[in-house]
Amino acid sequence: MSSQDIPEEKHLPSEQGDAHHGGVAVADDPFADPGLPVHKPRIQDIDERAAKRSERTVAMLFTLSMLATIGFIVSYVTLPVDKIVFIFPIGKVSALNFALGLTLGTALFCIGAGAVHWARTLMSDVEVADDRHEIAAPAEVKAKVLQDFADGANESGIARRPLIRNTLIGAMAMVPLAGVMLLRDLGPLPEVKLRKTVWAKGKLLINDNTNEPLRPEDVLVGSLTFARPEGLEEEQHDFQTQIAKAALMIVRIKPEDIKDKQELEWSHEGIVAYSKICTHVGCPISLYEQQTHHVLCPCHQSTFDLSDGARVIFGPAGHALPQLRIGVNDEGFLEAHGDFEEPVGPAFWERG
Ligand code: FES
Repeated sequence: MSSQDIPEEKHLPSEQGDAHHGGVAVADDPFADPGLPVHKPRIQDIDERAAKRSERTVAMLFTLSMLATIGFIVSYVTLPVDKIVFIFPIGKVSALNFALGLTLGTALFCIGAGAVHWARTLMSDVEVADDRHEIAAPAEVKAKVLQDFADGANESGIARRPLIRNTLIGAMAMVPLAGVMLLRDLGPLPEVKLRKTVWAKGKLLINDNTNEPLRPEDVLVGSLTFARPEGLEEEQHDFQTQIAKAALMIVRIKPEDIKDKQELEWSHEGIVAYSKICTHVGCPISLYEQQTHHVLCPCHQSTFDLSDGARVIFGPAGHALPQLRIGVNDEGFLEAHGDFEEPVGPAFWERG
């Protein structure tokens, strides 16, 4: 739209008019619309060689962005996490962090700089003005907007300058790869680690208090014993990770008091072994009520009935505690007959 399309501004009522205040002359309309400045063509508008130079500059910036993204990916894959380098004037920094920041920053900067240079030197710089209008645009305005958009696309030269268009598409397509690479920082997939514990067939049940393998006669009716798998020691680097899944509580219940058939089969002379990890949000269960065989989680009071498959009888826990099948080996020690048959801990993992 040219400036001729703009309706003439209604001039403010000129109270001042030609009046004089204190002898000083006041202009007719101090707020008059000065109109758009005269358009001055740029060197690129009149010299095709200059336009080509600008085009190459823009393409070079977009290409640099692509190279920087490739540099980001290569740095991420090849640089060790613990490598430290000295960078003047920053000092000692992580080589990986420095390389990632530098390459990603360069990739984004080059896209921005290329776009700005393109707009300033090659796209049309003729200023246009448009009247304010109601929000719901009439059909002819919508058609005009579409036409303006098409004109803008033409004026930007995106169709005529395939070099710029293609390098821009390349840069825009590649820069998200940097974000995709960062997903690796979420760590390796858990695979079956959350479903498995270190319990295995033949592993002895070690008393947490005495550090000795348990025999059936060590487990008295009414007592609550905590146990861990043979071979799992506190000195191990992954002790906390493993014990968090493998911790066991053992009670002895008169076999005739055990209501659940499978529980009875998986026990030894009324000795039952259950995961100590609450199925609500994973607190260690520690309270045992010997008359009722109920165990209570101290965190949110979930209560499980150990004489009935450790089913939940109160509280927010979603499901029963997993039972470990046990027996006695040739030397008379309690041993596991395998791993838990379901994931231990919060019900969350069962949905995985
Ligand atoms: S963690 Fe046991 S009841 Fe919430």
